[in-house]
Amino acid sequence: MSQPHRRTVVVLAAGEGKRMKSALPKVLHPLLGRTLLGHVLAAAGPLRADRTVVVVGHGADQVRAHLAEVAPDATAVLQAEQLGTGHAVRIALDAVPEATGTVVVINGDVPLLRTETVDALVAAHEGEGAAATVLAAEVPDPTGLGRIVRDTAGRLEQIVEERDASPAQQALREINAGIYAFDLARLRAALGKLSTDNDQGEEYLTDVFGLLVSAGEPVGVHVAADHVETLGCNDRVELAGLRRLLRDRVNEAWMRTGVTILDPATTWIDVTATVERDAVLDQNTQLRGATVVGAEAVVGPDVTLIDTVVGPAATVLRSHATGAEVGAGASVGPYAYLRPAARLAEKAKVGTFVEVKNSEVGPGAKVPHLSYVGDATIGAKANIGAATIFVNYDGVNKHRTVVGDGAFVGCDTNLIAPVEVGAGAYVAAGSALSQNVPPGALGVTRAPQRNIEGWVLRNRPGTVSARAAEQARTAGEDASGGPASASEGEAIHGGAETV
Ligand code: UD1
Ligand code: CA
Repeated sequence: MSQPHRRTVVVLAAGEGKRMKSALPKVLHPLLGRTLLGHVLAAAGPLRADRTVVVVGHGADQVRAHLAEVAPDATAVLQAEQLGTGHAVRIALDAVPEATGTVVVINGDVPLLRTETVDALVAAHEGEGAAATVLAAEVPDPTGLGRIVRDTAGRLEQIVEERDASPAQQALREINAGIYAFDLARLRAALGKLSTDNDQGEEYLTDVFGLLVSAGEPVGVHVAADHVETLGCNDRVELAGLRRLLRDRVNEAWMRTGVTILDPATTWIDVTATVERDAVLDQNTQLRGATVVGAEAVVGPDVTLIDTVVGPAATVLRSHATGAEVGAGASVGPYAYLRPAARLAEKAKVGTFVEVKNSEVGPGAKVPHLSYVGDATIGAKANIGAATIFVNYDGVNKHRTVVGDGAFVGCDTNLIAPVEVGAGAYVAAGSALSQNVPPGALGVTRAPQRNIEGWVLRNRPGTVSARAAEQARTAGEDASGGPASASEGEAIHGGAETV
């Protein structure tokens, strides 16, 4: 026999959530960084329960797999048939025969519940030595919820489901939030006496309250300070409503720590993300997963960051990043795509229509326009010209490219990996490089330029170009007394200088 348990948490998550109309079990629907179930487990986490039991049923395998990820210490207990919340709790407690003390039961679909509220419920319950305490709330619209029925002295008499309630009871606006604390021994005894004599023919956990009251046991009602915390989720419209409420709660908390959020209505921050002081989030910004935005960084408008770390004073504008790191003072976008293991060192620049994957962009290095950087190491202060492609894939394997410190890669260049451009080397615009360029050398692979005089007039007569060429020829003759000629041996230049 193991030690007696002082606190047990039971989460009810076996229901189908029919009205979600989803292949995904209701409790696995995501809400700003956690599933509905994940939020409930997070709220209960600080209770430090000896055991956490999650009752699974519909989509049991999926829910179990999720639990293994987010709450490996929790025990999943199968309720093969959903015969009611009372039945579900009975099965959960059968799995922990040695448990004693307090059991906290939470419906799996109340994601806005706060730890402080669960704590207050448990403190009130344990402080009064009650047999059972229910979390209640006054709500504007109690439709579909169980009602708290009190006697003339204001003491709890029973909890009645709406479908079993009299018209007078239906008029009550104090509802059962589906969150309770029980004395475990007395709960076990009462669960054995539940009937299925109700409109749904189910064992109702809520009937335990009436049974305890009849037996003269002390029961309590703890009223939530903010009814929003008790909102459940039954369909996708409610889910969207909860998402907005949680968004506002999260945004408000960050603003109070010193983050500027220019448009809170379009800024969506997962509960798992972090934003440091004096960061500025512009409109349409989403911070997801383990994203961190550093102090004084400016993110947005129109930015999605997933599991991405943005350093202090960096800027990210109209871009998408996943699994990336943006160094201090670095600049990203507009319209950049940073993929996993894109690592920008401090003051690096990744500009417009640039994609970076599994690459280091060195301190102060620049990739300003229209480029793909894959599997590369770019040295400090290197300059990568517009439309440079790091050709990393040969159809079978990926290869790396190294560009040394202070190197200068001209526009429209293919760096065919594996290849190395040495420190301080130049690569001529339009090259397709497959051999290394030594430090300080110029690498060129393009063919010399050839001009065929008079080609347009001969081959495209009557076109706009032909007319312009004719005009230029006449003007040239007028000015210099002879036709203009192209200079031979035009200098090769990098052509990557940009502002
Ligand atoms: C329940 C309460 C109601 C309360 C409401 C708050 C009962 C009888 N009624 O009603 O008083 O106002 O919650 O949201 O408890 N579940 C199981 N196994 C089952 C049945 C349900 O695990 O056999 C789980 C569901 O997955 C869900 C939770 O229990 O997470 C509540 O079940 P649900 O059917 O939504 O109960 P409500 O009708 O909302
Ligand atoms: Ca419900």
